[in-house]
Amino acid sequence: MDSKKVVFSGIQPTGNIHLGNYLGAVKNWVDMQDMYDNIFCIVNSHAITIKQNPKELIQKTLDLACILIACGIDPKKSNLFIQSKIDYHPALAWILDCNIFMGDMTRMTQFKDKSNKNPKNINVGLFNYPALMAADILLYQVDLVPVGSDQKQHIELTRNVAMKFNRDFGECFKIPEPLILKEGARVMGLDDPTTKMSKSATGKNHAIFLLDEPDVIISKIKKATTDSNSNIVFDENRAGVYNLLCIYEVLSKKNRASIEDEFANKGYGVFKNALAEIIIDTLRPIQTKYRELNNDKKYIQEILQNGLDSVLPRAESTYNKAKELIGLL
Ligand code: TRP
Repeated sequence: MDSKKVVFSGIQPTGNIHLGNYLGAVKNWVDMQDMYDNIFCIVNSHAITIKQNPKELIQKTLDLACILIACGIDPKKSNLFIQSKIDYHPALAWILDCNIFMGDMTRMTQFKDKSNKNPKNINVGLFNYPALMAADILLYQVDLVPVGSDQKQHIELTRNVAMKFNRDFGECFKIPEPLILKEGARVMGLDDPTTKMSKSATGKNHAIFLLDEPDVIISKIKKATTDSNSNIVFDENRAGVYNLLCIYEVLSKKNRASIEDEFANKGYGVFKNALAEIIIDTLRPIQTKYRELNNDKKYIQEILQNGLDSVLPRAESTYNKAKELIGLL
């Protein structure tokens, strides 16, 4: 019997995947693959809480699968599948909905952020987003959920509804733990280092996308916000330089003291060149693999199908149990 802990995480197929997504989430997933029984889900049903162009959504969903595999998600070690292929997700979300109080859902800060950003489309699905996320996780009897700190509140809600259901109707769900990814991997916007690098930000130089060409990367890094203080040291109060140094730290795997030594008495120009170079070197193999995979759509479909086949029985068994316990025929 496989006794590895089960890990589940989700990523939305919206916007363009960027360096912040890679360092903050995907790279961690890749690095953890050997240790756990991994389920990674492309959460396209969550994506429609914001208005999407239907054709583009399909394209982006498949493209994200391709990028994730190019980043190193290994189909031999991990199950990758598309959320909308399993109807138990929205079906369980409904059962959970009936066990979450309005007051608890109303406290979710991401809903407030997202509705402020999309005042013209504050839909019920956006409000209800955390229930679908809870269903994603609870269907698979998951031990750990690797997420950024912005998702902690949603995991807390997931745990609470699972405990309440188990208490009220009988044992059904495993209670998952969040695996909060390190802050060091929290990449901020290049044009605004006070906000997290985001897929939806509109600034041209806000984010480095995983498929950016080398000259684009060089130009974006050159334009990245720094300050008039010229020494290159890790100082959280100097958000721009600090962000760039943190990216360099993660990619070079050098420690902070040796990085500060390396750039002592050198200007931003030298540092930014070195940073652009290391980003280009990191992304090059991913881009090459992506182009290869993009020519082999059948292979991607096969991986997604295998992922689906392997996780579906777990979802089915949990859903049927929940249904039975709550008295649905
Ligand atoms: N809400 C998550 C995010 O925006 C994505 C997500 C959906 C997720 N379902 C999940 C993450 C289940 C972890 C587990 O990042």
